[in-house]
Amino acid sequence: MAVRPIILAPDPMLKTRARPVRAVDDGVRGLMDDMVETMRANNGIGLAAPQLGVLDRVVVVECAPRGTGSQPLRMANPELVAVSPERVVSEEGCLSLPGHVGEVERARAVTVRYIDETGTKRSLDAEGLEAICVQHELDHLDGILFVDHLSPLRRNMILKKMVKARRERARTGAA
Ligand code: NI
Repeated sequence: MAVRPIILAPDPMLKTRARPVRAVDDGVRGLMDDMVETMRANNGIGLAAPQLGVLDRVVVVECAPRGTGSQPLRMANPELVAVSPERVVSEEGCLSLPGHVGEVERARAVTVRYIDETGTKRSLDAEGLEAICVQHELDHLDGILFVDHLSPLRRNMILKKMVKARRERARTGAA
């Protein structure tokens, strides 16, 4: 397992639709492991493959507090098959937009169908934080960031700050 660099917005890679994986093989399992390690190293609760520059439909989600014995979810080709009509608004952030948050409205509960790391088809009923996280990560696979759910004004403000921070990093020679 390895921690990989995370792609920061704005980047065309984050706006590109990812393609389904053909099978969960050792390559996909390795990617999932690196994603879990990268997510944990950055104290995230979810990560999508495009954030590592890989345009495959793969996400990982870990919403339960660490040390509770729960395992992170590793999902290939996840699909929402049901969403609750009930909506909730909550504050979201994203490892590709560090330091920024915004209030996003989403379905309160969802059912997601996916293929796990063993190649088994599964279905998960998620609600609360887990449901929000699943929707956020699945958005990434379609090139959608949480800022795309905000007003254009707020979105542009955050993206401008990201560009400015990138320029600053380039100028000071930081990574
Ligand atoms: Ni994100």
